Amino acid sequence: MTNPRFPRLPSSFIWGVSTAAYQIEGAVNEGGRGLSSWDAFCAEPGRVINGDTGEVACDHYHRYPEDIALMKDLGVDAYRFSFAWPRIQPTGSGPVNAEGLAFYDRLVDGLLEAGITPTPTLFHWDTPLTLEQDGGWLNRDITDKFADYAHIMGTHFADRIPRWITINEPVVLTMLGYGAGIQAPGLQLGFGALPAAHHQLLAHGKAVGALRAAGANNIGIANNHAPTWAASESPEDQQAAGLYDALANWVFADPILLGRYPEELAPFLPEGAADDLPTISTPIDWYGINYYNPTLVSAPVGPGETGGLVDGHELDASLPFALQEIEGYPLTDFGWPSIPAAFTELLTSFTARYGDALPPIYITENGCAINDGPDETGVIADERRIDYTAAHLAAVADAIEAGVDVRGYFHWSLMDNFEWAVGFSQRFGLIYTDYETQERIPKDSFRWYRDLIQAHR
Ligand code: NOJ
Repeated sequence: MTNPRFPRLPSSFIWGVSTAAYQIEGAVNEGGRGLSSWDAFCAEPGRVINGDTGEVACDHYHRYPEDIALMKDLGVDAYRFSFAWPRIQPTGSGPVNAEGLAFYDRLVDGLLEAGITPTPTLFHWDTPLTLEQDGGWLNRDITDKFADYAHIMGTHFADRIPRWITINEPVVLTMLGYGAGIQAPGLQLGFGALPAAHHQLLAHGKAVGALRAAGANNIGIANNHAPTWAASESPEDQQAAGLYDALANWVFADPILLGRYPEELAPFLPEGAADDLPTISTPIDWYGINYYNPTLVSAPVGPGETGGLVDGHELDASLPFALQEIEGYPLTDFGWPSIPAAFTELLTSFTARYGDALPPIYITENGCAINDGPDETGVIADERRIDYTAAHLAAVADAIEAGVDVRGYFHWSLMDNFEWAVGFSQRFGLIYTDYETQERIPKDSFRWYRDLIQAHR
């Protein structure tokens, strides 16, 4: 009998945890780091819940040895983190800031010593502010600057880093950052945000080339994907859901895996975008999927109503679709539904859509916000995180059984951290972070994950 709390994955499966620079590092004014779009966004009143910022966050910049020791205790094979571009090139171009590089030297060497494979992401949303002020990802110039940065990192780390990720979730930076104004840089351009998608994809393709030229290998991207469910069979809802699906999923995957854009979005892309497709589709070695939950979409709702809510923010009612609440499933503390079967659905839909064009998959993120803190004995009994994660790993096992080539899983997140526009209000960690004392307290889910990994050895 299989135990629902201990799903069975292949013995070669890679077990990991993930974080991102701005969410954990803090020390934003130390070590010669330049400012990022997120420093500026957090400084604008009303943008982030409680006025929270990443200024200190988990103070990982100073406490990384303790965090490595915790990961060693956890027993993970690999750690996904991100390099902060403004630590390496404070204005996004020009000479390297040696102190910034030295921090990542210490981190990477510490991980290797602990037997943990560093799996860095080159860009996880912290655009150097100087570049943001110059149009950020709306300005094509950033793609060459990103390639230079990728080449610097590849040259410096190729011999120590065996697995690379170019960009994290370009869909979220595009839709929430440039489209809906919920995240940095806070612009509300609607479909006018799509050039930011194109430039991230082009930057990804150029970075793959730059990394390979520097001798770095085993390169992927971390894309967020959510199965899109239509609210009904009506042609209006079906059409709205189809458009949303193209916008949220396929515009970020088709160009990379098939070398083409979904037709319905072509009118919103920069002129000549098609000429960049050969670069965007530069072959990658694996494909990273971040999965949290599906999305329910209907045709636009009645006058006076909104296009739906994203984490409490109202979407523009003039959009050609509306997001609806999914009912009938358990919710995480963030209000996101937990639907493991949709994860299997997503993974099998990838094999169906891309066939032989799909390289092996890694789950580069999956997890949930469960905000429980320590009880009077200091224990954090986050049973619901264990249930969520076990069920989602079982969903991955189902997909593998159905023929999807999934090679590993990086839980989001190693520790509670700065959750972007909702600040420190949502806790995704296997480890509790006390933001007053910076004490790290492993939760029950930490011990469960350790046992699960151990059981596969
Ligand atoms: C996606 C992002 O990559 C990560 O930064 C974020 O914290 C998690 N999802 C949870 O929202």
